Amino acid sequence: MTSMRTLMCGEVRDDHVGSTVSLCGWVARRREHGEHLAFLDLRDHTGVVQCVVDGAHDLRSEWVVRVTGTVRPRPDGTVNPQLETGTVELGECTVEVLATAEPPPFPLDERAGDVDEVVRLRHRYVDLRRPEMQRNLRTRAAAIAAIRRSMDDQGFLEVETPLLIASTPEGARDFVVPSRHRPGSFYALPQSPQLFKQLCMVGGVDRYYQVARCLRDEDLRADRQFEFTQLDAEMSFAGQEDVLEAITAAVDAVVRTVRNEGIGEVPRTTWREAVDRYGSDKPDIRFGMELVELTDLFSETGFQAFRAGSIKGIRHAGGSESTSRSRLDDLTETCKRWGAKGLVWMRVEAGDDGGTTLVSPVAKFMSAAELAGVADRLGAEVGDVLYLVADDWIRTTHVLGLLRLELGRPPTHEGGLRFLWVVDFPLFEDVDGATGRPVPAHHPFTMPHEEDLDLLDGDAEALLRVRSQAYDLVLNGWELGSGSVRIHRGDLQQRIFDLLGISAEEASARFGFLLDAFRYGAPPHAGFAFGVDRLVALLLGEENIREVIAFPKTQSGTDPLTGAPSELDAPQLADLGLRQVPPPG
Ligand code: AMO
Ligand code: AMP
Repeated sequence: MTSMRTLMCGEVRDDHVGSTVSLCGWVARRREHGEHLAFLDLRDHTGVVQCVVDGAHDLRSEWVVRVTGTVRPRPDGTVNPQLETGTVELGECTVEVLATAEPPPFPLDERAGDVDEVVRLRHRYVDLRRPEMQRNLRTRAAAIAAIRRSMDDQGFLEVETPLLIASTPEGARDFVVPSRHRPGSFYALPQSPQLFKQLCMVGGVDRYYQVARCLRDEDLRADRQFEFTQLDAEMSFAGQEDVLEAITAAVDAVVRTVRNEGIGEVPRTTWREAVDRYGSDKPDIRFGMELVELTDLFSETGFQAFRAGSIKGIRHAGGSESTSRSRLDDLTETCKRWGAKGLVWMRVEAGDDGGTTLVSPVAKFMSAAELAGVADRLGAEVGDVLYLVADDWIRTTHVLGLLRLELGRPPTHEGGLRFLWVVDFPLFEDVDGATGRPVPAHHPFTMPHEEDLDLLDGDAEALLRVRSQAYDLVLNGWELGSGSVRIHRGDLQQRIFDLLGISAEEASARFGFLLDAFRYGAPPHAGFAFGVDRLVALLLGEENIREVIAFPKTQSGTDPLTGAPSELDAPQLADLGLRQVPPPG
């Protein structure tokens, strides 16, 4: 305790009956009882306790007070089973006002969930008093402590890497910081410590980790902030299996700490299988509704739209009754927005022969054998809706993957924790039609599969088949983390840069220090990083990582509390050698 208090509010119990205690906290609620008696609910981060205050006090919500009183059982009939302190109260209280307070800008009880986020963030210091926010902050701290314990136990060394750096490519835009000493020059803030952790490997660190702040200027979403925290790790003389084992142990330690349960054996799938079965490289395997292969059924179809490279379907079990015709039209439009040419839906109804019949505006274009094949493959039962898409493999899987989530995804807090390793990502995500240049799927330091090295000399189609030694950890449909075995040979790295169209001069200007380092003896190495904000949010059943960040930005990237981002005044601009020009447009 401290010199001001002898107990925390949420800790008062029957055991304390008869003792005199001093508690400090905020007035959560005050109820008058007659003229000379008031009930105060006193709150600190451990909980709330009722204090019975005699005499007239001018106490208001959120005033900061110190209450000294004697713990006594609550009178019969006034016990509150909802409260951990609900069997007791403080009587004969003296109250010392430590600070008065203006009325809070929003109610701090269960109604706070409906308050506009800008209002909550503008007064985040008030928002943080709420029990949910306290729980989130404390769970986050416990998770980070568990990560550090696990990594330390596994022999990883925590190394801090700089924040003011030259650019590290991770696929987002850099935040930049102007240099006062070198006007016209800029530092970049790290999108990740990627290049520094690789330099640590060349430097003999062997096993590195960092609870690292990363900064990326990208569009914000529920699972994305400009600033976020990674558990970042790298290992020397190690490959994929070593990394998967170390990271699984760290994540397991977090889940044990927060949920008191282990994560068990984490299943594994290849990227190709994940996309084929779930239409996503980060499948949510809390539910089934898998994509079913139908292409061969339509090899000789008369239905023009289904003369396509890939036809797949999903089954919405029992969905017919709850799915109106206008909802089906909406879903069709939505699939078109996702890139589909259309969406075939079929209601499964009882047939005359006691079997099933598929009812759809396009059923007339399909043969009896085609319809029977679809019903059979998808396991159609009366009351289901079936959805079919025809396109190339990438688009068919993409659209049905999104439709699967739309129709079947459980709320964040349901369905338990379903981790999944996705391995064998392609090295390249795409080949630019105009330039013929491949686009890396991860970052350009990822090692291709040994067996696929020959394909690097091939055409676009061959390049897209090159698998990389890259892997992701997925949790309930969120990408939790990614990593790869790295290229540690300068010649192969140069070759990848060449393929990507990064010229020797550009490579030397941007990553020359890494290529130089490789010339001085680089061990084979591999690593990984996972998002701490995402992991903690999912463990707490929060839909948005903002809820587990003490001072996050709004969806539009501002901080209503401090007013950031803000303008610089003229002398500061001059100091930095910057001049304001009117915004474009
Ligand atoms: P990657 O870019 O996949 O890999 O990032 C790793 C993990 O960081 C989290 N993350 C984010 N969390 C919140 N807001 C964001 N804007 C955001 N961006 C990423 C995700 C993601 O899976 N250097 C490589 C790792 C490596 O190869 O070792 C990297 O940063 O959970
Ligand atoms: P159309 O022949 O374009 O009038 O389409 C007939 C029906 O088939 C409409 O319901 C479309 O939404 C659907 N459709 C068209 N093309 C496709 C496709 N490639 N995959 C799935 N459904 C399609």
